[in-house]
Amino acid sequence: MSAQHPAHPHPPRRIGVVTESTPGETRVAATPATVRLLHGLGYETVVESGAGAAAGYGDEAYAQAGASIGEAWNADVVLKINAPSTEEIGRLRSGATLVSLISPAQRPELLEELAARGVTVLALDAVPRISRAQSMDVLSSMANIAGYRAVIEAAHVFGRFFTGQVTAAGKVPPAKVLVAGAGVAGLAAIGAASSLGAVVRATDPRPEVADQVKSLGGEYLAVNTAHETSTDGYARETTADYDRAAAELYHEQAREVDIVITTALIPGRPAPRLLTAADVAAMKPGSVIVDMAAAQGGNVEGTIAGRTVVTDNGVTVLGYTDLASRLPDQASQMFGTNVVNLLALITPGKDGRPALDFDDVVQRAVTVVRSGEVTWPPPPVAVSAAPQDAGPEEPTTAPPDTDRPRITPAARYGLIGLGMLATFLLVAFAPAQLAENFTVFALAVVIGYYVIGKVHHALHTPLMSVTNAISGIVVIGALVQIGHGNRLVTVLSFVAILLTSVNIFGGFAVTRRMLSMFSKG
Ligand code: NAI
Repeated sequence: MSAQHPAHPHPPRRIGVVTESTPGETRVAATPATVRLLHGLGYETVVESGAGAAAGYGDEAYAQAGASIGEAWNADVVLKINAPSTEEIGRLRSGATLVSLISPAQRPELLEELAARGVTVLALDAVPRISRAQSMDVLSSMANIAGYRAVIEAAHVFGRFFTGQVTAAGKVPPAKVLVAGAGVAGLAAIGAASSLGAVVRATDPRPEVADQVKSLGGEYLAVNTAHETSTDGYARETTADYDRAAAELYHEQAREVDIVITTALIPGRPAPRLLTAADVAAMKPGSVIVDMAAAQGGNVEGTIAGRTVVTDNGVTVLGYTDLASRLPDQASQMFGTNVVNLLALITPGKDGRPALDFDDVVQRAVTVVRSGEVTWPPPPVAVSAAPQDAGPEEPTTAPPDTDRPRITPAARYGLIGLGMLATFLLVAFAPAQLAENFTVFALAVVIGYYVIGKVHHALHTPLMSVTNAISGIVVIGALVQIGHGNRLVTVLSFVAILLTSVNIFGGFAVTRRMLSMFSKG
């Protein structure tokens, strides 16, 4: 199908968008908006009648976007969400390209079946997790939606407030949420639960996620054991020691929290078991568990994939496997955008002619079947997302920093002595007013250092505005002093105005940048 494949004199140009046959699937692989983008890449599109109905996109919307409505399975490139059934594979034209989720590692027989049909298959779940491929990573975009939706489902079943309230009618404590696994889905769940006002805790064997957990308003619970950190940014199978310590943590947390959302996954392995039946039995009646890994066997003992289970002690365990499909419109839009980005990569000429380049790691990784030949697994991809530093074992305490040049005790005492001498000279010979101002300045530096160092991440924006207010005060003081004749005072005032201006104008620049993140287009 490529420029490197002279066997295809007529390169594919028509993209077909087909209806999903998987029960309960509401998403569609292209929306009217992404169909327009596909036209921009030089393709024509044909959409099967009703393909977008469950996601809220009627045939007319696709027609208005310039697609034709009709038979889509015989197109040159077929876009789909879920892997095709045997019957659907039979409808693919030999030589066509299929773009969909495939689960190539779990389904070798499907790859053989597709190869026998003589097609090329781009597996969307084989996109490597490297920064360059992020815009095509459907697993991440769907996990992000699913993590959010897991919280919404939990809140619905929980039937109580997430946020704490103090009202005339009484006090309501905030709900406590534990998120196990802080990958894409876990972080989305942490963000959603903390913005609903819950007290959120999260744990993950990768200590480097602690900062991300905190920045989303959660508290990172470290498992107190030596754990070998990953070198490639992805999770490794945990050690028996880690699992023992983690089991204690889960047992302790299970008694305390109201909601547990589990998202633990190690690529290519069945889901690790985190909560046992005893942990679930220890939870308060009315508590809710969302086991996001239900489809991979579940992180929680007793989960049934796709079902709701209520235990004897009144804990509801949700094993939904269709969380992203529960937001069909936006899930389709994101999925469709990922697909457009992949097609843009393989259509560099924007001429509607896909040209697979096997020297490109992303294109090589996603191609699981090429013109009837199974090309899975790809050679391993060197991951650029590896953490620079494996991170501290216990992220709440400062890491021992052996590489930093250490100051010797003699030099330290020398510096302290020098500082004391400078202070003495200043107090002895400078005008009384200057000594007084210096004392206030020194105290302000010390207090400021400790106060600002303890400010929570979430309060950094108000902290910035208060520093801008302080800059305003400093600038007024400097303006009052600048014309008083004394050259030293004038110079100091000028420096003060210069430095505070950096803060004031810098504040405007940062605000502008932050606001532009929210503006459309
Ligand atoms: P991810 O790979 O980004 O994150 C998984 C996280 O689990 C990693 O941070 C990893 O360090 C952590 N982990 C591994 N072993 C652990 C252990 N023993 N204890 C605690 N944490 C551990 O994966 P992503 O994309 O966030 O997906 C998470 C899960 O959600 C997967 O099982 C995925 O299939 C599932 N999912 C479910 C959906 C649904 O509808 N139910 C939809 C989308 C995703």
